[in-house]
Amino acid sequence: MALFRKTEQEEQGLPVPAHLGIIMDGNGRWAKKRGLPRTAGHAAGAKVFRTIAKHCEKRGIRTVTFYTFSTENWKRPQAEVDAIMDLLRQYLKESLADFQKENIRTRFIGDRSALSADIQQLMQEAEESTAHKTGMDLNLAINYGGRAELVNAMRRIAEQVQAGKLSPEAIDEDCVWQHLYTAGQPEVDMILRPSGEYRLSNFLIWQCAYAEYVFEDILWPDFTVRDLDKALEEYGKRHRRFGGL
Ligand code: IPE
Ligand code: IPE
Ligand code: MG
Repeated sequence: MALFRKTEQEEQGLPVPAHLGIIMDGNGRWAKKRGLPRTAGHAAGAKVFRTIAKHCEKRGIRTVTFYTFSTENWKRPQAEVDAIMDLLRQYLKESLADFQKENIRTRFIGDRSALSADIQQLMQEAEESTAHKTGMDLNLAINYGGRAELVNAMRRIAEQVQAGKLSPEAIDEDCVWQHLYTAGQPEVDMILRPSGEYRLSNFLIWQCAYAEYVFEDILWPDFTVRDLDKALEEYGKRHRRFGGL
C-alpha cells in the first residue's frame, strides 16, 4: 500500500469532510487542448477517478459522491453519450475485480431506468458485491439531477400520503432526507469542482445547503492526489457557522 506524506490538515488535526462531492469536469477541454477527440478526455478522466476515489478512502472520508453523468448530459451528441456509456460499462466490469480489493462500498445514485439493461445489471452486481464493505461509501451519480431527485422524493412521499400511510403534518426535513438517493448518508460538507467553472450544475442541491465550495482551475484529467490534499486543507481551514455564531 502506498504511503502518503501527512497533510497539513492531518498534522494540525483539521476536519475532513464526512461527505465530499466531486464534479469531475473539464474532460472535453483537456482533450481539445491536445488535439484529441472529447472521448479521449473522458477516458483520461475515468483513470483519474479511480486514483482519486482510492485516495479519498486513505484520507478517511466516509462518503464521496462523484458526478459522472447528469440528467442534462443527454443533450450531448449521441456519439459522445455512447462513448461515456462504453467507459462506464468498461469501468463496471473492471471495478468488479479492482474495487473488491478495497474496503469501498459502491452505490449508484440517479435514475438508472434510462440506462441500458446490461449497465443496470452491472450496477446491481457492483452494489451487491460491495454491500458488506465497511470502509468508505462511494456514490456514482449517473443520470443524476438534484431536481429530479427531489421530484422523485416528492412523488414517493405523495404516494404514501395518498395511501394513508403518512399524514402531511409528518412531512418534515427528516422525511425528505429519507427519500433522497443518498438516504442514510451524511449531508455534503464540501463540493470540489475543478475545470474553472463556478457552479453546481444541478448536483446534490438539497444536500449542499451548507456545503463549503472549493473550485480549482485544473481540468479533471490533470487532477492529482496532491491537488485533492490541497483542497482538503483549504476545507479544513474554513469556519463553518450553520447560521449560528
Ligand atoms: C465532464 O467533462 C464529464 C461529463 C460531464 C460527462 P466535460 O465533458 O463536461 O468537459 P468540458 O467541461 O466540456 O471540458
Ligand atoms: C456537470 O458538468 C456534470 C458532470 C460533471 C457529470 P457539465 O459540464 O455537464 O456542467 P455545465 O454544463 O458546465 O454546467
Ligand atoms: Mg463540462
